[in-house]
Amino acid sequence: MTDATSRITVNGRELECRAAAHLSLLRWLRDHVGALEVKYGCGEGVCGACAVLIDGQAVNSCLVLAAQIDGRAVTTSAGLGSPSGGLGRLQQAFLDRGAAQCGFCTGGMLVTAAEFAGAGEALDRRSIRDALHGNLCRCTGYQAIVDAVDDVLRDQGSSSPPAGGWT
Ligand code: FES
Ligand code: FES
Repeated sequence: MTDATSRITVNGRELECRAAAHLSLLRWLRDHVGALEVKYGCGEGVCGACAVLIDGQAVNSCLVLAAQIDGRAVTTSAGLGSPSGGLGRLQQAFLDRGAAQCGFCTGGMLVTAAEFAGAGEALDRRSIRDALHGNLCRCTGYQAIVDAVDDVLRDQGSSSPPAGGWT
């Protein structure tokens, strides 16, 4: 199969991507860039473990070909830190809330949450759960994950109480 060459920015670093035309973005990130925080779960768009931001939009990287995103910017969960080099707000909230158990789903959860936190929408807890519905946690740690995302949305003034009050 013919190689395709493209330029992709990963967490602020512009890289040349020379890969077989059928290589998924997930495989390229893990095997060629060393971005092992992007996890291979199902490989078919079901679990969300491989989610990354492409130009700010959360996408399952197992469903995208690396050759398709020439000129685009990819952000993985490792790229969500603060500009000063410390943990980003979502990362810190996950740590504070104990929102990772085995951690396999955590990168995808962070990336998906970063998309809707960045959009500044007012979300109640049910809406947070809905927004994370494509990210599966095998450890069933959803409560702490929702708590962490809720903390961040409240801090930035984009979380609102549901009709029945906060749970
Ligand atoms: S590995 Fe991509 S959605 Fe599961
Ligand atoms: S923390 Fe283990 S899969 Fe979510």
